Amino acid sequence: MTEKRISKILITEQEIAKTVEQLGKNITSVYQDIEEELIVVGLLKGAFIFMSDLIRAINVPLIVDFMTVSSYGTGTVSSGDVKIVMDLDSSIENRDVLLVEDIVDTGNTFKKVVRMLNNRNPKSLRTCSFLNKPSRRVVEVDLDFCGRDIPDEFVCGYGLDYDQKFRELPYIGVLE
Ligand code: IMP
Ligand code: MG
Repeated sequence: MTEKRISKILITEQEIAKTVEQLGKNITSVYQDIEEELIVVGLLKGAFIFMSDLIRAINVPLIVDFMTVSSYGTGTVSSGDVKIVMDLDSSIENRDVLLVEDIVDTGNTFKKVVRMLNNRNPKSLRTCSFLNKPSRRVVEVDLDFCGRDIPDEFVCGYGLDYDQKFRELPYIGVLE
């Protein structure tokens, strides 16, 4: 029923696993000599599946926290207006923070969240996104770790939704 709206598979389950494994290795090597646990901050809801795989591929001590910010509502166009709907539990002051997102599209969400988190004076703040659509960028963002660049198509699955649907698909598919 729901699968009718997915027109093709862009990234298979196997490719996702390989990508996450490589990201985990890269992140592990950057934080090798970390003193306190890395705080991995996931942006809900989109990043929850990616984040759960990613933290198991990272081999340094870490804790997880989550944040919900408003971005799209039910449509497919980003608004520049980003608000915190649910904030972090932890203080990130003087801590190493890795911000994890499902996809960077216009860059609006990431840029605003990075600014908000930087205002809390972390020791370091790095960014990781599973997917990236460089051709859609409106504002510049620094992505320290990026899983895959994809073309300008609306994708779903592996946590990413259209109108809250399709998050459960184990692959990344293109919406019709
Ligand atoms: P941005 O603010 O335009 O960079 O959009 C970021 C947010 O929009 C992401 O966190 C996603 O939740 C959502 N988004 C952007 N592109 C897609 C897509 O192709 N599929 C599903 N969600 C998307
Ligand atoms: Mg989203």
